[in-house]
Amino acid sequence: MSKIFLLKLIDVSKSFKGLEAPVLDKVNFLISSGENIAITGVSGSGKSTLLHLMAGLEKPDHGKVELFGHPINTLSQNKISTIRNKHFGFIYQFHHLLPDFSAIENVVMPLVIRGDDPLANLTQGVKLLKVLGLENRINHMPHELSGGERQRIAIARAIITKPDIILADEPTGNLDYKNAELVFDMFLEITKEINTTIILVTHDNKLATKMNKIYQLTEGKIRTR
Ligand SMILES: Nc1ncnc2c1ncn2[C@@H]1O[C@H](COP(=O)(O)OP(=O)(O)OP(=O)(O)O)[C@@H](O)[C@H]1O
Ligand SMILES: [Mg+2]
Repeated sequence: MSKIFLLKLIDVSKSFKGLEAPVLDKVNFLISSGENIAITGVSGSGKSTLLHLMAGLEKPDHGKVELFGHPINTLSQNKISTIRNKHFGFIYQFHHLLPDFSAIENVVMPLVIRGDDPLANLTQGVKLLKVLGLENRINHMPHELSGGERQRIAIARAIITKPDIILADEPTGNLDYKNAELVFDMFLEITKEINTTIILVTHDNKLATKMNKIYQLTEGKIRTR
């Protein structure tokens, strides 16, 4: 029997209008459960695009994306959203917090969307914010918070559903190197406890070396480094 991978990209290609070469050119990528992976590459090499394809936020022009052996790139947006909410956590490069909701409301939002018990959610959310050093920021609005605080809230929001996989796009990009490492180590500790696979996009070599494997995206191809 062939092995079932958590996430599998088969011959995935993606081009955008106005660019001479494809951003991703027949990329093949296998990710097993429990593997933590770093993806590096220069600005514009396609790292964010790759994460968006993995989570079904964008569709490939050619090729297949499989989650637990099931193709997801052919599903409707509705079905993909349900799958994303169940299996994925996403930390965006530019945090994407909802501006009209407080820190704690942003953190518990994925659980509210799932229809889970709101009170239990709050307790869990507050606990996570405390672990991430935000106990005094629970009811603040995003515009009242620093870039680094917003990123930690985005991290808590990705963790709260205990997802199988977290796609993290420069999750500590707004932090100085010392705090980046501190927050990232907390993130690793929590995700290890809940057995989540991490796919990390980063320019920070020190963070990349904390992962099991490092890949580099160059000219549309992904290679181990
Ligand atoms: N929706 C889009 N429409 C057109 N071009 C796009 C779109 N999204 C990305 N691109 C282009 O595709 C290339 C790859 O973009 P992407 O955001 O994946 O790069 P990246 O490796 O994440 O870069 P960075 O390190 O700066 O975040 C860039 O040249 C970008 O301009
Ligand atoms: Mg990017």
